[in-house]
Amino acid sequence: MKIFSIVGARPQFIKLAPLSAALAKNHKEYIVHTGQHYDFAMSEKIFSDLGIRKPDIHLEIGSGSQAFQTGSMMVGLEKAMFDQKPDIVIVFGDTNSTLAGAVSAAKLNIPILHIEAGLRSYNKSMPEEINRMATDHISKYLFAPTPAAMNILNREGLVQYAYLTGDIMVDTMNMNLDIALKKSFIIAEMNLENQEYNLVTLHRNYNVDNPEILSHIFDQLGKLNEKVIFPIHPRTKKMIDNAQSLPGNLTLIEPQGYFDFIVLEYYAKKIITDSGGIQKEAYILKKPCITLRTETEWVETVEEGWNLLVSPASKDIAIKIMGFETPLTQKNIFGQNVTNRMIEIINQI
Ligand code: UD1
Ligand code: UDP
Repeated sequence: MKIFSIVGARPQFIKLAPLSAALAKNHKEYIVHTGQHYDFAMSEKIFSDLGIRKPDIHLEIGSGSQAFQTGSMMVGLEKAMFDQKPDIVIVFGDTNSTLAGAVSAAKLNIPILHIEAGLRSYNKSMPEEINRMATDHISKYLFAPTPAAMNILNREGLVQYAYLTGDIMVDTMNMNLDIALKKSFIIAEMNLENQEYNLVTLHRNYNVDNPEILSHIFDQLGKLNEKVIFPIHPRTKKMIDNAQSLPGNLTLIEPQGYFDFIVLEYYAKKIITDSGGIQKEAYILKKPCITLRTETEWVETVEEGWNLLVSPASKDIAIKIMGFETPLTQKNIFGQNVTNRMIEIINQI
């Protein structure tokens, strides 16, 4: 088959890596990059760490308002699909690149395969919630990462399109962790040997676009006993006032490549985040995760006790972080050998 894999944001490159390598065996895959993320650290560095070949089509759309960004992508994607006539379009997750890819394909009657289907936060003020709901309802093949996602697809009348595949980020992690532990020198470079530290990432609009909330979170991170390493997303960087004095235990660094970042996760005491992918990676690496949100799509991680939801408005963020302990055991929420399962299904289409 001729396949379009449409990506544009950092977590989508990480989900694409194992699938793209496996698709190459039997299919002609075009990697289509919308250009939603474009900084070297957010895009090219992730491609090179994960050995993903250069995109076959790069739309270079860049940043903009929700409608401008999504609409511009759709114009470019429609043309690319019209020119290349793919048999199927694969979209990943819940970003504007996901929605633009799905809507453009649906209007040209090209079947859509959605990886990471069935996720819901039930919070429609998140652009991602709108993106994933719309994408699921116009897709022909829904690859659900977890049983909870399958249940949601069932409740929404989509079960006949759904396949429980597991989460492809498990494969990216399993294929790369040992390599990263050998290749990355980030721990030595940052003098973190024999030191406990917490790893933080934040990029959700409700946490970082409101300066009061952001500075409250920084204050709370300043109350932690250990160092806090904070690779800072470009959206968050824009919001940090240079004049603002940061707590002494906080070290802000550039967004990291995939290898350096998973090594930072691997050695962290606790992970504090509002990222979707990082909640999963914390679970996979058996790290206590504190999610600075009022709800999560990854409900099983919370139910099992490995992830604690803390409202960003809470006065006691630091106390809750310090008091959080995980159980000793884990179920296997996200599956294993996920890419193989996906390829088996794709090969039968
Ligand atoms: C996007 C996704 C979000 C995902 C996140 C992963 C949507 C609606 N949001 O959020 O679901 O969790 O990516 O990281 O699709 N910027 C740069 N350089 C870049 C990219 C962005 O400076 O390479 C800055 C720009 O000022 C831009 C802002 O970050 O306006 C936000 O970028 P955008 O892609 O719109 O949303 P994210 O917050 O990255
Ligand atoms: N990540 C990375 N470098 C960083 C921060 C995160 O490579 O500095 C990786 C991380 O390992 C995970 C993914 O980016 O695989 C998560 O992406 P992000 O938090 O941007 O988006 P989300 O998952 O919330 O959509």
